[in-house]
Amino acid sequence: MLVVAHISDLHFNGTAGGRDRVTSVLDYINRRAAGIDALVVTGDIADDGRQSQYEEAAATLITPLPMLVLPGNHDVRGEFGHALLRGSPDRGPLNHSQMIAGALFLMCDSSIPGQNEGRLDDETLTWMDAQIAGAGPHVPVFVAFHHPPVTLQMPFMDTIRQTGEERLIALVDKHPNIVAFLCGHAHTGAVTAFAGRPLCLAPGVSSTLNLPFEGSDVINETQPPGLAFHVYAEGRIISHFRSVPAA
Ligand SMILES: [Fe+2]
Ligand SMILES: [Fe+2]
Repeated sequence: MLVVAHISDLHFNGTAGGRDRVTSVLDYINRRAAGIDALVVTGDIADDGRQSQYEEAAATLITPLPMLVLPGNHDVRGEFGHALLRGSPDRGPLNHSQMIAGALFLMCDSSIPGQNEGRLDDETLTWMDAQIAGAGPHVPVFVAFHHPPVTLQMPFMDTIRQTGEERLIALVDKHPNIVAFLCGHAHTGAVTAFAGRPLCLAPGVSSTLNLPFEGSDVINETQPPGLAFHVYAEGRIISHFRSVPAA
């Protein structure tokens, strides 16, 4: 059995209230670290990409778990890489991978510098293909990125989703050992399907966005921060969601 803690959309902005929402979910995870194999953070770490926000993130995101992070549309590659990926190159997508507990985690950069919508560069898709092939056909693969490559019936978010997804579908068709996709961006805990595999969205830590019938405001102010636990066992993923009110 493999257990992945998954959080997303932290949006560090220098406020104590924002930081408290992150520490509440992180404390919940850290207190249970003995039963968890990895922590995946699917983007929008900073609210507007300032260096001070990454310094705040680096000082707050303390965990005994292997932590895998990737950027979202609110992040800036140079600052993100310097603070959170030990000085990754400033140019090009910030892709990286790690084997954890016998599974391959592909952390893919779906951001487009300066834009809110997402897309995987051809370079990223080539890299993914090589990584999966290199691991071999029997290694379970988790593919993480920020932008969901499907609509979610959330009118605004659907306009800034990941596009160009037909190239990703073609890649997935080649690799039956891709277990699931992990993403964020929509600030809603949700599960759907993409290319025949589960697509799991972590709740937004910083905020939750309303569905059209929940309210006319963009942000649902009543919702506490949350997280997902993805359990991989018997060849499939089971996603559990938790809300953790900030102290
Ligand atoms: Fe976000
Ligand atoms: Fe986002």
